[in-house]
Amino acid sequence: MSVSSASDAMADRLEAILLVGGQGTRLRPLTISTPKPLLPTAGVPFLAHQLAKAAAAGVGRVVLATAYQAPMFADHFGDGSVFGLEICYAHEDSPLGTGGAIRNAAGALRSGPDQPVIILNGDVLSGHDLSAQLDIHAKHDAAVTLHLVEVDDPARFGCVPTDVDGRVTAFLEKTPVPVTNRINAGCYVFRRNVIEAIPAGVVTSVERETFPALIRSGAVVMGYAESAYWLDVGTPEAFVQGSCDLVLGCLASPALAGSPGVPGQALLLPGAVVEAGARVGGGTVVSAGAVVGAGAVVEASVLFEGARVGPGASVHRSVLGRDSSIAAGAVVDGAVIGDCAVVGEGNELRNGIRLWPGVELGPTAVRFSTDA
Ligand code: GDD
Ligand code: MG
Repeated sequence: MSVSSASDAMADRLEAILLVGGQGTRLRPLTISTPKPLLPTAGVPFLAHQLAKAAAAGVGRVVLATAYQAPMFADHFGDGSVFGLEICYAHEDSPLGTGGAIRNAAGALRSGPDQPVIILNGDVLSGHDLSAQLDIHAKHDAAVTLHLVEVDDPARFGCVPTDVDGRVTAFLEKTPVPVTNRINAGCYVFRRNVIEAIPAGVVTSVERETFPALIRSGAVVMGYAESAYWLDVGTPEAFVQGSCDLVLGCLASPALAGSPGVPGQALLLPGAVVEAGARVGGGTVVSAGAVVGAGAVVEASVLFEGARVGPGASVHRSVLGRDSSIAAGAVVDGAVIGDCAVVGEGNELRNGIRLWPGVELGPTAVRFSTDA
């Protein structure tokens, strides 16, 4: 390769791949119509928070690794210029797993073989210092550098023990017997040529195959541990929590810079209606066309566009889908109400209940709860 063509192959800007092809099964029924990374979160699609953070950290080009409902991503983000990014799209005809998706998306990268490429799971809110993670990667000339966080329930994640120097000694995905509370936070820096070693066009898990194989082979895999805000929004409880935390200002997102009402107790988007005597707080979002009736109480919840809460109803820690409706006096607590679903008068829905889109519960005064 001549000198000029070698430099042509080098990206002049830092590149990132965002993994956004999962089906968001744990967030059904919200993810039936909208993929998880596009769910409205504090008034913008979830991914906008990650894109704005990446841009703020110096990323210039992003490849979105899509599979499930792929066309919706380009409809939302176009060429990325709104974020000051260049966004392009890689597509898997059938999902290739996290490793296969990264390998597939790498076809759109311009970085040279030794340059760092950032990989992000598309469902994580994080306040960690991406530049510091890149510095650790460069300092150790690592093959991969993983962002690590400590959680109370490591069995739900990738468990990642390290030695005293921060070098990763094992990667145990969703093990029932975690050896440490330190887990994979879903943000990696890969040396570009390490991505090329993942087999092309084959379903591969970066967590179950690529990382364990790299560690076994003696490659330098580093951990970058930081205790800043971190949340995987992949369950309804976590999704509500993430949206509320953004509104309350527990995590400052550059996607919300200059947004009136943030930080605050509630984010009322243009076209939202909160009638007299209603109480809305705890980081609740009321979207355009959504209505909270007189005397209703809505705490720590997310109301999608056109959702209606009747007078005197009570909604806590819940998501109300598009054009759904909660009748006067009904109680919804820790529930997910699908698009256009109706909760009639007198109903009580609690503790993880999910109502599928369009389902109508009449005024039957039934109590639904997952409690015994
Ligand atoms: N393109 C593409 N293709 N993306 C995919 C595919 C695929 O086949 N499968 C999953 N993804 C994307 C999802 O959209 C999500 O953004 C990301 O990969 C991770 O998938 P999740 O389904 O959210 O995984 P998880 O939360 O159970 O576990 C992962 O994240 C944890 C941290 O939040 C793992 O990486 C764990 O090790 C980690 O601890
Ligand atoms: Mg996840």
